[in-house]
Amino acid sequence: MSIAIQITYLISSIFFIYGIKKLSSPKTARKGNLYSATGMLLAIVVTLLDQNVLTYEWIIIGGVIGSLIGAVLALKIKMTGMPQMVGLLNGFGGGASLLVALSEYYKITYAMPLNTGVAILLSLLIGSVTFTGSLIAFGKLQGIVTGKVVHYPGQHLINVLLFIFVIGAGVYLLMNPANVTLILIITGVSLVLGILLVLPIGGADMPVAVSLLNSYSGLAAATTGFILENNVLIIAGALVGASGIILTLIMCRGMNRSLMNVVLGGWANAGATDGASGEGDGPKGDVKSVDAEELAMILEVASNVIIVPGYGMAVAQAQHAVRELMLALEDKDINVRFAVHPVAGRMPGHMNVLLAEANVPYDKLFALEDINNDFANTDVAIVIGANDVVNPAARNDKSSPIYGMPILNVDYAKTVVINKRSLNPGYAGIANELFFGDNSLMFFGDAKDAIGKLTSEIKNL
Ligand code: TAP
Repeated sequence: MSIAIQITYLISSIFFIYGIKKLSSPKTARKGNLYSATGMLLAIVVTLLDQNVLTYEWIIIGGVIGSLIGAVLALKIKMTGMPQMVGLLNGFGGGASLLVALSEYYKITYAMPLNTGVAILLSLLIGSVTFTGSLIAFGKLQGIVTGKVVHYPGQHLINVLLFIFVIGAGVYLLMNPANVTLILIITGVSLVLGILLVLPIGGADMPVAVSLLNSYSGLAAATTGFILENNVLIIAGALVGASGIILTLIMCRGMNRSLMNVVLGGWANAGATDGASGEGDGPKGDVKSVDAEELAMILEVASNVIIVPGYGMAVAQAQHAVRELMLALEDKDINVRFAVHPVAGRMPGHMNVLLAEANVPYDKLFALEDINNDFANTDVAIVIGANDVVNPAARNDKSSPIYGMPILNVDYAKTVVINKRSLNPGYAGIANELFFGDNSLMFFGDAKDAIGKLTSEIKNL
């Protein structure tokens, strides 16, 4: 391969790395996307110009069909459907690595060098697990496959045995390469392993699983790069693998859980909390509720307000109504900021993306560590469809499953207003003592409706 191609690959890789760096802030994320896409375009064009490509017709047909499907999906998918879309795309990445590995095996069956053989087997194993695991993740998020934590007798033992089988059969294959049946069995077992590894994980933990599978799809691509001796594929795959695992760990830390706890189906009630009642053994007491008119009067005398968005804002698609509220409050000379918890919503950056979509300026969005100390000096904290991420049990109750999880200290504000439809718990299925606090006021209703009414009342003052 000529030196020019290698240099272009290096330039592509620099674009990827620079693109990822730019993705770390909402302000520069669009540019980051563009840089990464440019790197990818360069890599694809150079690969196609490479002399190994004999005919272009299938590549063009595949490219056109794939681009069309991708464009339609990207335009049609709603923001709330993004996790399953990402899950599906990871799966396709794993599937592609699996197919390349199989086809390379068929090309060199009788003369498979050891290093290529190892790369083929790794690509098959990781690609297959990513493919079927991602399809199950997609199914769980889409509601096609049960979102409950699935436990069955001997599940871990079965997984370990299947894994040992794949490794053992792989070693045998390296010593006896011309065994087409065996490689198909290895592929089949790896596909089953992907299903069995993801099935036990609760639906609500799927974003973490999807992020982990994203990392796997990168590793699969990197191993495929070793098979094809393609440097840019190795680098791009390694970048996806590393960034996927970093994101997975950030999400786990935000929930104060270990990766093992998520992967082994940690919170038994996760994904099955719909309709669960906040009553029972949880905190009890009087709940004070307000209507839009009363709340508008409370806000009228406030100087500082912090809005805390959560999953309910996404469900209600209330981000535009929330922006209107911000503008109405600012019209009354009230300082408004937003506090965004790292795992508010159901995927990383969920709240940031929704608020950006509604044109809420980035400089009003604050991460937990940058704003948490300010609640004590805040007149009103308005919680909109958030629950677990503001649950003081994470600070106070050692027996709580979320004990130790970093939360937004909204209860330290002079008044905290919580907008949601009922006293039902959130994703973790835990009742929230915040609702019963002396300085807490419940503002019941669907976020979009309720916030819309509140904004009208503020404007009428
Ligand atoms: P949750 O704790 O899930 O609470 C959301 C609340 O929104 C619910 O209690 C619900 O109460 C309310 N709600 C639902 N629909 C609503 C509507 N139309 N209008 C108003 N309120 C509505 O959300 P959170 O505080 O954002 O916490 C996120 C949770 O997801 C955390 O436990 C986190 O660990 C988990 N998680 C997050 C991620 C990432 S990366 N973001 C990944 C995996 C898991 P009502 O039913 O009473 O309305």
